[in-house]
Amino acid sequence: INLYKFNELDSTNDYLERNHKNYEEFDVICAKNQTHGRARRRNDWISMEGMAIFSFFLKERENWKIEDYLKLPLIAGLATIRGLKGIENLEYKFKWTNDIYLENKKLCGILMEKIDDVYIVGIGINVNNILPGTLKNKAISLTQATNKKYEIDEIVKNIVFEFQILCENLENGLWEDILTEINEINYLKNKEIELKFGNEAVSGVVRDINENGEIEVLVKQDENGKIVIRSFSI
Ligand code: BTN
Repeated sequence: INLYKFNELDSTNDYLERNHKNYEEFDVICAKNQTHGRARRRNDWISMEGMAIFSFFLKERENWKIEDYLKLPLIAGLATIRGLKGIENLEYKFKWTNDIYLENKKLCGILMEKIDDVYIVGIGINVNNILPGTLKNKAISLTQATNKKYEIDEIVKNIVFEFQILCENLENGLWEDILTEINEINYLKNKEIELKFGNEAVSGVVRDINENGEIEVLVKQDENGKIVIRSFSI
């Protein structure tokens, strides 16, 4: 696994979007810091030194179907947890679709994007950084959990290695095993959440992630005095 290290980039995902043709599949772009880190849903990702900030890409595969690619966010999440466990064995949880939680706080975010014929995986992990007070209740870093310092390159290599293995496993028909492992660390499981449909909100209890990679929510609804229990995916 080749790491290409930069002191500062706008965003490692954006860099790869522009330059992926100059790199090989699974080459890793690492940055100490980012000026325009991006998160999902057009949010910003606040970057700072001490985080693991990196992106790599997977090429489109001739024998894969769209359903296979839809599983990639889950695979990236599991690869991250496996990679982290290899360095520090903590109770990491996978928050569907692809965040990692530790002690009920966000440790890591993953942003997956498709450009041309490649799928870019961008990962930001709070490792040696101390989070600002404003995020103290929401986010955590490894060093805040253990008081230790970590070798970021080792973490990055572990994660990309695990991602490669999991992609091979998926290709070899082992999705069931992957899914079982993911459901064992499903952060949302049995939590009550609120689902909004336009102006209407219903509450439900999260069940397992299903074979399509969707999360199932059990909704109890009172309709004309009747209790209807429906299970569907969001
Ligand atoms: C999220 O929490 O919604 C995803 C956050 C992803 C952040 C990482 S940091 C490396 C890569 N470059 C980016 O601009 N974003 C991802």
